[in-house]
Amino acid sequence: MSKRIPNIVIANWKMNGLLAPSMREFKKIRDFFLQDLISCDVVICPPFTLLRDMAEKLPNTGIKIGGQNASYAEHGAFTGEISAFMLADLMCEYVILGHSERRALFHETSEVVNKKATTAHKAKLKSIICVGETMEERDGGIANEVIETQLLESIPDSANDSNTIIAYEPIWAIGSNVTPSLDEINEMHTYIKSFVDKRIKSFGNPPRIVYGGSVGANNAKEIVNLHNVNGLLVGRASLDADSFCNIVQSAS
Ligand code: PGA
Repeated sequence: MSKRIPNIVIANWKMNGLLAPSMREFKKIRDFFLQDLISCDVVICPPFTLLRDMAEKLPNTGIKIGGQNASYAEHGAFTGEISAFMLADLMCEYVILGHSERRALFHETSEVVNKKATTAHKAKLKSIICVGETMEERDGGIANEVIETQLLESIPDSANDSNTIIAYEPIWAIGSNVTPSLDEINEMHTYIKSFVDKRIKSFGNPPRIVYGGSVGANNAKEIVNLHNVNGLLVGRASLDADSFCNIVQSAS
């Protein structure tokens, strides 16, 4: 059975990229889009400092941009924070929320992720809400419960099939070159789907569930072809334009 919704490929550049070399990579990605017919959605989430330059070069490319985080507050005395409304003002359409690095290194709880997603939706951004289990949790046989709790607590009431994407990123697969087997990915996505189909309001389409964690040109195609995988969240392999375009081609 073919999939009903186009795949989405999201690049998470994390805290990488100075202006000149990053814009050279971005230009290569843009040229690829101008030459090839791409049938999947593509979002690049660079550091905040690159958004404005990218935004200027977006029109007519089909590429979308997004932030890697946003505050739960709309504006005000929150030194160092960036508001979802500021991202929207820079032509961002997406924001990654609750990435495991933010949960682990910056103590973001699912309750905070929920508030951030609510604000992002108010700013008309699409939230990419990340969930994932540790290796200990998987080995202990509690991965499903951990994911279900994160979903239950992180997804706000404002979520619907067009403003929310769920990213399943097993923490042990991020940056490790180790991935779950295809069966394990499909099983978890099927489990997540059964939960989000009930939790996220649908106006006709099922909410998209993307996989992230050591995705590269070598494994993108087989992962994205899995029935309940609707796209990919790519870290390291998105920093190089050639490898990223290769991945986009696999999902297209
Ligand atoms: P990775 O990172 O592709 O480098 O494993 C993925 C992520 O953290 O989103």
